[in-house]
Amino acid sequence: MAKEKTVFFCQNCGFESSKWMGQCPGCRSWNSFVEEKVRKTAAAGRPDGRVRSCSAPVSLAEVDALGETRTKTGIREMDRVLGGGIVGGSLILIGGDPGIGKSTLLLQVCRQLSLDGKRVLYISGEESRHQIKMRADRIGEMPGSLRLFCETSIEVIRETVERDKPEVIVIDSIQTMYADSISSAPGSVSQVREATAALMMIAKGLGITVFIVGHVTKDGSVAGPRVLEHMVDTVLYFEGDRHASYRILRGVKNRFGSTDEIGVFEMRSDGLVEVGNPSEYMLSGRPENVPGSVVSCSVEGTRPVLVEIQALVSKTAFGYPRRTAAGVDVNRVNLLLAVLEKRGGVDLSSYDAYVNIAGGIRMNEPAVDLGIVLALVSCHKNIPVPADCAVFGEVGLSGEIRAVRSADQRVAELKKLGFAKIIMPLANKNKAGKASEDTGTVYVSDIAEAVRALSDKVRP
Ligand code: TYD
Ligand code: MG
Repeated sequence: MAKEKTVFFCQNCGFESSKWMGQCPGCRSWNSFVEEKVRKTAAAGRPDGRVRSCSAPVSLAEVDALGETRTKTGIREMDRVLGGGIVGGSLILIGGDPGIGKSTLLLQVCRQLSLDGKRVLYISGEESRHQIKMRADRIGEMPGSLRLFCETSIEVIRETVERDKPEVIVIDSIQTMYADSISSAPGSVSQVREATAALMMIAKGLGITVFIVGHVTKDGSVAGPRVLEHMVDTVLYFEGDRHASYRILRGVKNRFGSTDEIGVFEMRSDGLVEVGNPSEYMLSGRPENVPGSVVSCSVEGTRPVLVEIQALVSKTAFGYPRRTAAGVDVNRVNLLLAVLEKRGGVDLSSYDAYVNIAGGIRMNEPAVDLGIVLALVSCHKNIPVPADCAVFGEVGLSGEIRAVRSADQRVAELKKLGFAKIIMPLANKNKAGKASEDTGTVYVSDIAEAVRALSDKVRP
């Protein structure tokens, strides 16, 4: 007989505890624990009727590689992030803030897949079919093979899928799904996990590709997608500023490809449009010859992306200077300010410093370090960086400018977009091939040299 027991789950990361706690030991978020009743069934989560994959141990040497069984979604930016297309029978989680465009993206993917002759079933637990139809009308004409199903019960979904055998299904969203075997409300950690486990069996047992939408919520009222990251094959996050029009699809986990690729989209009135050249997009509307604005180059996956780094330095009104960063880690900015003071001879300890990556994109690559440093110096000394000058390089703690990977690729992208002057690490000189003969390139080996280059070598 099933026994009910009470446990507490962290809504953020799914940490399980037998008692309530103020702070989650797993992810350190506060006040995220909620009480849930879970029923442990004797069948260890496999009640009768569930899809069972009948498998037996086999010799690894005899296993066929998947080879080229990927299906292209027809949306290049999406294929890139997935590692070249969808792998059949995989479970793909798409997380993101509500309203960012997850449903729109997946409806577009479904449309493309059905146009290619795939049988697709779009399951929505959130919107009525009329609402989905309204969205579909904005995107374009939908092929007849794309079917819609408004349902929240995972058991009904399983029966339907077993009967209809579609090739691809979309679950929008996992937080609205519920399994009868669990008594807690939809959106709770145990429901979300149970529903995902059921979907995993559908995916693996029947070889159906399953896209799962997971909302990220700040208030912790429903379990977030992090709770199920470990259960799925691929985790993609759809991010961007809701008020800006571009969106970035970023891979966080991918069992079938790399995770450092990004896909860039623009939200238009007729759906999401791919942005083939993100550099041009990120730099549009850039102020020219203004102190505090520097162009740098980050390599996201295999693609160089140019970004504008903006800095503002102003005398602090309080004893303790303010440091704010948007798009880069504020601790990184603090570290760079310390290096700048100690090794670069520019003391900003009594100045507030604000750093922003224009366009709202997030950059984690250390190659933008030098860009941040020179943006700060440029603003502080009121020296504008010429409009055709770009900067990249990693800054080390002893003030050295370290080599970055793919320097050639960065230089090529910068040249392509008309940047004649490039400040880059000396350590990349030999590797930079032809570019090293260029007169416009300034090689620097430490931070003081870079600061000097800004004031004498690259003045307009
Ligand atoms: P949606 O896909 O519903 O977001 P999610 O599923 O992540 O919650 O997207 C909602 C937003 O996108 C909404 O604010 C309207 C906007 N939008 C457009 O700007 N253009 C379009 O063509 C569509 C379909 C939506
Ligand atoms: Mg939605």
